[in-house]
Amino acid sequence: MSPISAKPRVLVTRSIFPEIIASLEAHFEVTSNQSDEAWSLEQLTAQLQGKQGVFTTGGDRIDAALLAACPELKICANMAVGYNNFDVDAMTAAGVLGTNAPDVLTETTADFGFALLMATARRVSESEHFLRAGLWKRWRYDMFSGTEIHGSTLGIIGMGRIGQGIARRGAHGFGMQVIYHNRSRLDAATEADCRARYVEKTELLQTADHVVLVVPYSAASHHTIGAAELALMKPTATLVNIARGGIVDDSALAVALREKRIAAAGLDVFEGEPSVHPDLLTVPNVVLTPHIASATVGTRRAMAQLAVDNLIGYLVHGQARTPVNT
Ligand code: DGY
Repeated sequence: MSPISAKPRVLVTRSIFPEIIASLEAHFEVTSNQSDEAWSLEQLTAQLQGKQGVFTTGGDRIDAALLAACPELKICANMAVGYNNFDVDAMTAAGVLGTNAPDVLTETTADFGFALLMATARRVSESEHFLRAGLWKRWRYDMFSGTEIHGSTLGIIGMGRIGQGIARRGAHGFGMQVIYHNRSRLDAATEADCRARYVEKTELLQTADHVVLVVPYSAASHHTIGAAELALMKPTATLVNIARGGIVDDSALAVALREKRIAAAGLDVFEGEPSVHPDLLTVPNVVLTPHIASATVGTRRAMAQLAVDNLIGYLVHGQARTPVNT
């Protein structure tokens, strides 16, 4: 017979900082995935039996079928600000709380958005590959000429906290004219702080030199950028996606890049990641990174700690810090 535990039982779906596991163990009986491989749906369902809480990452799908098979589950704490891996309606119907990890990653992610914009506009990856391949033999006036960043027009689609961080970097740091499109217009004080002007999406795509996507993924934002939108952009423009795969039609983007209908793209997220559309791997004018926009040690630790705080807050004290379905 197994001993009866007074502590709630919590599952951690991925390998994570040892000190984060230790802080969970102070309050819970913890089971964690020790390998780097994600559990299949069947494995996750089996591991969740008898657990009251689960520490998830953006790749762990929580839906109605899984919830029905795990009746003791009370909270899913996501170590991500985005929570499109949660079926929030199904969770609410099942009486399961979902939490995310906002704020703690805002500036780090905005830094990366800007880094990707700069690497894309100034052809950093493409020129490094050229050098490593031993192809650099002489100076040429037009070698790896990129697109201007300072003083150019930055178009941001999705003006939440991270979008605003990118706007401030562009406007205050690089003298860019910032235009944005969002579900709702920001208040005047925030627009002034970001030095950003609201425009319709079509105008943004037609006039921006650099388009950055920071919009949350939902059925409504699926393929926000497809062939028709890419056709509106300037042939000299760049596109950066740090939001979610699925916001861009990767297949249409690969065509636009190959045919130089836009100058370049920088992608940190992909439809069906960690798989990447094979056509994107063969075009040179795209910078590809493996979903690392929030990846600094300090920020990843803070995101994990916020997920832990939510588990302790809810299962021990009855109140989570950052619920998504209140
Ligand atoms: C988030 O927090 O949603 C990021 O995409 C994960 O790094």
